[in-house]
Amino acid sequence: MFAHKTRMMKSQINDIDQETENHDTFLNDVINGLTQSEKTLPSKYFYNAVGDVLFQKIMHCDDYYLTRSEMDIFKNKTEQLAEPFLQNSEPFELIELGAGDGSKTKHLLQYLTDKNAPFTYSPIDISEHILSVLEDRLSQDIPELKIKPENGDYFDALKRICDRSNQRKVVLFLGSNIGNMVYEDAIAFCSKLSSMLSPKDLVLIGFDLKKDPQTILQAYNDSTGYTAQFNLNLLQRMNDELHADFELNQFVHYPTYNPQTGACKSFLISQQDQTVQLGDEEISFKKYEPIFMEVSRKFSLADIRNLAEKTGFEPISHNYDSKQWFTDVLWQVK
Ligand code: TRP
Repeated sequence: MFAHKTRMMKSQINDIDQETENHDTFLNDVINGLTQSEKTLPSKYFYNAVGDVLFQKIMHCDDYYLTRSEMDIFKNKTEQLAEPFLQNSEPFELIELGAGDGSKTKHLLQYLTDKNAPFTYSPIDISEHILSVLEDRLSQDIPELKIKPENGDYFDALKRICDRSNQRKVVLFLGSNIGNMVYEDAIAFCSKLSSMLSPKDLVLIGFDLKKDPQTILQAYNDSTGYTAQFNLNLLQRMNDELHADFELNQFVHYPTYNPQTGACKSFLISQQDQTVQLGDEEISFKKYEPIFMEVSRKFSLADIRNLAEKTGFEPISHNYDSKQWFTDVLWQVK
């Protein structure tokens, strides 16, 4: 009884320690971003409970085409996607970085299961909550599926999988999440990925392609206003969790697209000279000063080829949606 009580108290103390640590890291990260000469906020903090819901709404709204385009590939090109994974019935680990709700991957998993492919599906996500929802849903929809979720940072979790299994690996990185990295970070990310995998292992990466600039801009400036709310939600989150005093109606969402570089960038623009209290810091904003929120890069086929070449991969195949707006490319580790 007593031992039990002590244990509970310890775990509660650990929870509190963890919360304080999260709070402090969050505060340090945002202060660091807002005291740069060009103010910025780290986009990883977009995804709290409200942010998750808003992101779901973005993905379902008419203007945001990315999810539908990639879904088109997973629904209608399933065989082309999956066939290269089925190498002489040799067992493999199917690993997904940032699995989300799995609605696209489900088509692939169903196909592979129907083919009796010998594989284990390991979705990796930073959100334990998302992983348990995904596991419940998939084990209902595809009862035969072997699923082993891994909670944590992409590379920490990938390392754990590589340590426990010497089967060949197929890694999925969908949703053009690679576009949310600046060029150097994308290079570093892909290089690290190829170095952790073995020659002949496969990766399938989703890239949003360069297209009519209006179409792209509209996706990040949806008429329903969800993307604006999604960005502003980070200010709300700082108010709620860090006791900041942002006035949300004094900041306006402003997306840009540069068709030369392919960078689609989101900013929040301060509507007046104002100061905001953040921890012990007072942050001042000039009228029309931007906070850079996130980049979502769009790629040409040459950009994609270049990235593979520089990071230890050999391109194997491209799969496109019917409009050729999006591509999931299969690369093999050299
Ligand atoms: N990777 C997707 C994209 O670039 C999803 C995404 C990430 C996103 N952050 C976002 C979408 C912010 C809208 C707004 O579009």
